Amino acid sequence: MTGRVFLTGAAGFIGFHLANRLLKDGWEVLGFDGLTPYYSPELKEARLSILQGYDTFSFEQAMLEEPGRLTDCIGAFQPDIIIHLAAQAGVRYSIDAPRSYVTSNLIGAHEILEAARAHPPKHLMMASTSSAYGANDEMPYAEQHRAVHPMSFYAATKIANEAMAHSYAHLFDIPTTMFRFFTVYGPWGRPDMAPMKFARAILNNEPIDVYNYGNMQRDFTYVGDLVEGIVRLMGKAPTADPIGPMDSLSPVAPFRVVNIGNGSPVPLSDFIAALEDALGRKAERNLLPMQPGDVVATWADAALIEALVGKLPHTDIKDGVQAFVEWYRGWNRAE
Ligand SMILES: NC(=O)c1ccc[n+]([C@@H]2O[C@H](COP(=O)([O-])OP(=O)(O)OC[C@H]3O[C@@H](n4cnc5c(N)ncnc54)[C@H](O)[C@@H]3O)[C@@H](O)[C@H]2O)c1
Repeated sequence: MTGRVFLTGAAGFIGFHLANRLLKDGWEVLGFDGLTPYYSPELKEARLSILQGYDTFSFEQAMLEEPGRLTDCIGAFQPDIIIHLAAQAGVRYSIDAPRSYVTSNLIGAHEILEAARAHPPKHLMMASTSSAYGANDEMPYAEQHRAVHPMSFYAATKIANEAMAHSYAHLFDIPTTMFRFFTVYGPWGRPDMAPMKFARAILNNEPIDVYNYGNMQRDFTYVGDLVEGIVRLMGKAPTADPIGPMDSLSPVAPFRVVNIGNGSPVPLSDFIAALEDALGRKAERNLLPMQPGDVVATWADAALIEALVGKLPHTDIKDGVQAFVEWYRGWNRAE
């Protein structure tokens, strides 16, 4: 399957990897990204310069929330598939700067929905998050669990996105998949996330901040495995028929949410040990209490995605961290 993909957040961590994969697979990609200053615009530019090596890649630098801009771009490009990854990400920053989440994640997401309404794609795919499960402590997290008690404003905006997209899928018959991603890591990662924060501190002989005294578990998902999941789901636009009891398909709309995770939670201590091994240095741990907005553990139930697209690759944490560190050493020298 090939065709045209309109991809927001193309200069971001996941968007870059997905665009790279789609271009290699023969898709034509129009990337859209505002290169926001939340973290190093140089890192975003460096990712983009790789994508710009493909003739089949074009790029629009603009903000989601600019009224009508997405509708104009999508109208001119006529994509088969729209993938919306651009967002203000980050649990902790949403305590300090909630407004940017309103602008990017609520107003921006609404602009995407309006664009899809004006120029309906075969499949609209949008990023949500495992944070949507919030206070739900039933593990592993399954798509049919209640996701109604967000612990952070970031999570609240993503749950709102799911509700907004459901209403558009219902009213305007737009086949829509919402992904719930679980802690994604790998090369070209985000400087605000633990792998890069920890690697930077360890290499600078500074202590790393370890919250909840290290008593945390995350379903760390290697970015290449996640991208494989997205690519396989592209051809699985929701239709009227549920595929089984695990399906989150809406009873009134071509809409479903799908977890994309590794399916095996890793204790934070194991993740840090893998990072220490790959860096060849020990970390000094600054043990701290739980941070507001955070959850102790995440764990994806993979039954739905496996029923839809088969078993995904599961990169071992040691191999994934090794690949991240190899990239980070080069980037750190260039920084
Ligand atoms: N990385 C993870 O572990 C993770 C986990 C769960 C969900 N997600 C979701 O996946 C998506 C991609 O995440 P990521 O890790 O690649 O984040 P990222 O911050 O690296 O990428 C997001 C991109 O969106 C752009 N952007 C943000 N606001 C914008 C706006 N208003 N207008 C135009 N562009 C804007 C940024 O410039 C950035 O390049 C996000 O929706 C995020 O919430 C990520």
